[in-house]
Amino acid sequence: MLSRRLFTRTQIALARSAARTGSARAPLATSNLAARRALHATPAARADTTARTTTSSLTHADTAASAETRATIDRFQRYTLGTYVRPPLVLTHGEGCWVFDSDGRKFLDFTAGIAVNALGHADPEVARILHHQAQRMVHMSNLYHNEWAGELAEALVESTIAAEQARSTAPAAVGEGASASTATFHPSKVFFANSGTEANEGALKFAKKYGNLQREAHPDRYPQGKHEVLAFSRGFHGRSMGALSATAAPAYQTPFQPLVPGFTHTPYNNVAAAEAAIHEGTCAVIVEPIQGEGGVHMATPEFLQALRRRCDAVGALLIYDEIQCGLGRTGQLWGFQHYPADCRPDLVTMAKPLANGIPIGAVLLTDETAAKINPGDHGTTFGGNPLACRVGLHVLQRIRQPEFLAQVRATGAHLKAQAEGQLQQAFPDLVTGVRGVGMMVGIQLSCNPAPLVDLARERGLLIITAGGNTVRLVPSLTLTADEADQGIRILADSLRAFQAQQTP
Ligand SMILES: Cc1ncc(COP(=O)(O)O)c(C=O)c1O
Repeated sequence: MLSRRLFTRTQIALARSAARTGSARAPLATSNLAARRALHATPAARADTTARTTTSSLTHADTAASAETRATIDRFQRYTLGTYVRPPLVLTHGEGCWVFDSDGRKFLDFTAGIAVNALGHADPEVARILHHQAQRMVHMSNLYHNEWAGELAEALVESTIAAEQARSTAPAAVGEGASASTATFHPSKVFFANSGTEANEGALKFAKKYGNLQREAHPDRYPQGKHEVLAFSRGFHGRSMGALSATAAPAYQTPFQPLVPGFTHTPYNNVAAAEAAIHEGTCAVIVEPIQGEGGVHMATPEFLQALRRRCDAVGALLIYDEIQCGLGRTGQLWGFQHYPADCRPDLVTMAKPLANGIPIGAVLLTDETAAKINPGDHGTTFGGNPLACRVGLHVLQRIRQPEFLAQVRATGAHLKAQAEGQLQQAFPDLVTGVRGVGMMVGIQLSCNPAPLVDLARERGLLIITAGGNTVRLVPSLTLTADEADQGIRILADSLRAFQAQQTP
């Protein structure tokens, strides 16, 4: 009885909080359907809702959290700024694609810390390197060289060049035969930061400087200046003022107006609108070749080709935000490598998986842009620290292996096929589409997917939403076919429960 009362109170608090923040917008918002119904329902309906959620397959019920766990959460919430709505469990550790909570429950993790833990949780080699490096040196700033930042920079540049050379002899998976170009992305330098947002801020600053120098050199060509940036609908680039200005979501932007001037947005994949919006005053175009937060949408080859063409025509830089889709997640080292050669970028930003969860971000630049950046133009205290860079080097060395990437493609294709067969075909009214490539799979629903996140978690599977109506599967790249099948089975069970809830 006590736990039922606590459950109701906690869940209602969660629901209220979700309603306050706008659950579709709150990061990882997982407002519980039962809780939301409880909030608005009559006592009789409330009892009915609870009965429906306690089905036999509900192996990880929120209501089963121990009193200790609830007390801990209450205490944590008292002191933590409420920018996230979290379910009533406390995660303690993980192993591979599995995580465990303080009550000893085991969950299959299809979130990987939002597409971060590429090698899974508690990878023994990552742990060994962390331990060893922590005993040597964690941080010394960028005032000095350290043993690892330069190694990682070299590995990023050389791995990209090698991957591009290998790719140039293979047809693009998307838009095959669409281009006779043999262009490759040939980076020469790396800037290290601490997160995806910071990587994008760096890239935008480099592009602004590039544009300003162009303007100085050619005042007649750029009389109005050259500092505008084009970004796209549903794109997500981060939450600091520059990155947020590039992120075209009113719910993220509105409370923080005025933002940085000079940012324009056009619809993703709309070639004509993008072509019209890129002009002589544009210094950069920033785009995710495969959108993550926006709902797992792939760019069309024609769209990326048009961006490249227009950027060349007006002397603007093309920035690919590969923070979510890069570094092996799609089964290629870079997401753009699924596309024809004449879509290659000038700058690439990365972060999430690079150090398997140790914060890091980076920008890859071609010589042309790198040559415009001088000492003092940009900097960071933590970026490039030896701890993150040493782990990053290890992660990169593992994920760039052709066998590793082939495994991501194979398991990812299996995961997607299972989602199509076991979910879309079995629940055609609820599941209206399956998208994505590699270990980046979006399952589009005909309704708000937040309740499904809760139903899956209460059955032992962690998933996240993306865009307005999509569930996103971004597990560790080490996921096995068997784990993919287990997750799909739980999702099918969750969809059955979802369907039952929808039925009056
Ligand atoms: C494509 C993309 N860009 C930028 C970011 C921001 O990265 P971070 O949260 O590490 O600052 C994200 C985060 O989800 C992302 O998916």
